[in-house]
Amino acid sequence: MPIGYYDDWVKAADEESKHFNMMCDCLESHSSFYGAMPAHVGMWRAAEDTANDFLGRLAVVPMVLEARGLDVTPGMIKIFEAAKDQQVVDALNVIYSEEVAHVAYGSKWFHYLCGRNEIDPKPKFHELVRKYFHGSLKPPFNEEKRAEAGIAPDFYWPLANEMQPPAMR
Ligand SMILES: [Fe+2]
Repeated sequence: MPIGYYDDWVKAADEESKHFNMMCDCLESHSSFYGAMPAHVGMWRAAEDTANDFLGRLAVVPMVLEARGLDVTPGMIKIFEAAKDQQVVDALNVIYSEEVAHVAYGSKWFHYLCGRNEIDPKPKFHELVRKYFHGSLKPPFNEEKRAEAGIAPDFYWPLANEMQPPAMR
C-alpha cells in the first residue's frame, strides 16, 4: 500500500489512544475505571472476523462501526450537556470531530483498493458488510458527517434494517 495508507492509520491509532485516555479520565472523575462496566465487543469481533480480509476490514471497521459513532455521538453529547458534565462533553466533542477522519480514511482506502483491483465499490461494500457485520445498520444516520467522510447514502441505506432471523446469526 502507498505510504499515505500507513500514515493515516498511525494517526488514527494515536487519536484512538488519546480518546481512550480521555474516557479513562472521565470514568476516574466518577470514581470508576475502564472495565468496571460491561461493554460490547463489536470492534474486536469485527477485527477477528476480518483478520484475513483486507477489504472486509475496511468495510466493517471504519465504514460501518466508526461511522455508527458519527450517528450516535451528537445524542450522547446532548445527554451529558443536560447533566452538566463538561469533562465528558469536551471529550466527546474531540472524539466526534476526529472520528470523521477515521471514517474518511476507511472510505478513501476502500475505494483505492477497489479501483486498483477493478472492483465496483458499492456492491462489494454491500457484500462484505452482509458477510462480516452481525446485524443491520440502524437509522437515523448522520448523513452530513457521513458525506463529509466520503460515504454516500446508497452505500448504507440498502443495509438498513436488514434483520436476519435469530437462528441465522
Ligand atoms: Fe476512530
